[in-house]
Amino acid sequence: MAVEARPKLDAHRLRADFPIFEREVNGKPLAYLDSAASSQKPRQVLDAMRTFYETSYANVHRGVYRLAEDATAGYEGARAKVAAFVNAPSEREVIFTRSATEGINLVAYAWGLDNLGPGDVVVVTELEHHSNFVPWQYVAKRTGAEFRAIPFDDAGELVLDALDEIASAGNVKVVANNLISNSLGTVNPSERLAAWAHEQGAIMVVDAAQAAPHRALDVQALGADFVAISSHKMCGPSGVGALWGRRELLEAMSPFNLGGEMIRSVKLDRTSWNELPYKFEAGTPAIAEAVGFGAAVDYLTDVGLDAIEQHEHELLAYALEQLGGIEGVICYGPPPERRAGIVSFNVGAIHPHDVAQVLDWEGIAIRAGHHCTQPLMTRLGVAATSRASFYLYTLPDEIDRLVAGVERVKKVLG
Ligand code: ALA
Repeated sequence: MAVEARPKLDAHRLRADFPIFEREVNGKPLAYLDSAASSQKPRQVLDAMRTFYETSYANVHRGVYRLAEDATAGYEGARAKVAAFVNAPSEREVIFTRSATEGINLVAYAWGLDNLGPGDVVVVTELEHHSNFVPWQYVAKRTGAEFRAIPFDDAGELVLDALDEIASAGNVKVVANNLISNSLGTVNPSERLAAWAHEQGAIMVVDAAQAAPHRALDVQALGADFVAISSHKMCGPSGVGALWGRRELLEAMSPFNLGGEMIRSVKLDRTSWNELPYKFEAGTPAIAEAVGFGAAVDYLTDVGLDAIEQHEHELLAYALEQLGGIEGVICYGPPPERRAGIVSFNVGAIHPHDVAQVLDWEGIAIRAGHHCTQPLMTRLGVAATSRASFYLYTLPDEIDRLVAGVERVKKVLG
């Protein structure tokens, strides 16, 4: 019987693509364990942006000269790559944004303000990043809609039993959820929530910023209506992201930003809108950044999303076992099989900022704070956590260094 080989990646080899790892921090090799905040960039992405600027740069969609055509081809080529990466049915459904946050704000404003009102219910979760929580809370207040949050349990997993009670609060119109929690690494049942949202007659908005860099993302299989992603967490540049949305919804929506490029015609008494996706791309976009985003998508595709997922799963299981074995360390979140490569923890009562500071002496970069998830922190009963997060370039040796660093934290501050 044939045994299917598990996909493997060679993190040592991949690290050679990332110039940042040539530097030291405090005399130690850099152990970058903060990829959930932002990922590092491979030469392939940096080179693509430099080459674009050096050979093909002009504004897009505006010029009839050769250079402008080349620039437009680069920008639209990147859109095609992103569309294929998320398995969008059409490139027209992929809107370049500044970030995942901007993508969600686009939906909250352009769809929410026109479609929500008293008697409607906007549903988020208690483990949402602020970017998929605050816009909905704000738009619910502005429109008079109810705002409800699906709670999570002690393991950091959503309590779907709460859905019936939430549905009884009115007409559920929006369900917003992150596919992977940026604080706990929980892989959420967004597909089930999308099915539930549709049973209620609601739209499903998925924040996939922490998922798209780490596992294959298929917006059609997910069954959502809008999915937001961000380039800078995916080995691409900051300043650009993408929103995928269902064509019929995008077509029916009002614009979000207004100005150049998003119009069909402008007269003194009325303006009409451009076709998709340009209706939602007012102003000069982040052109070279989009090209870099496309190169990042190529890079991740070459490495293989299944291999990335598997690599991070092994690192996560190892990190949970090692950190969990240190006396006084509390790790938050679900077991490895339902979790991505993110570990939030506390070292006794030592403040996470102090933990991060001592780890920095060792050249180890982690994030400390509330991770833009204050409702989640409130539910955990803590003000902040330390968070280590992994990516395709993370080595098991860096987890050993983290564990030794936490032991040092205990000695210095415990
Ligand atoms: N959303 C990013 C994080 O979780 C910034 O760190």
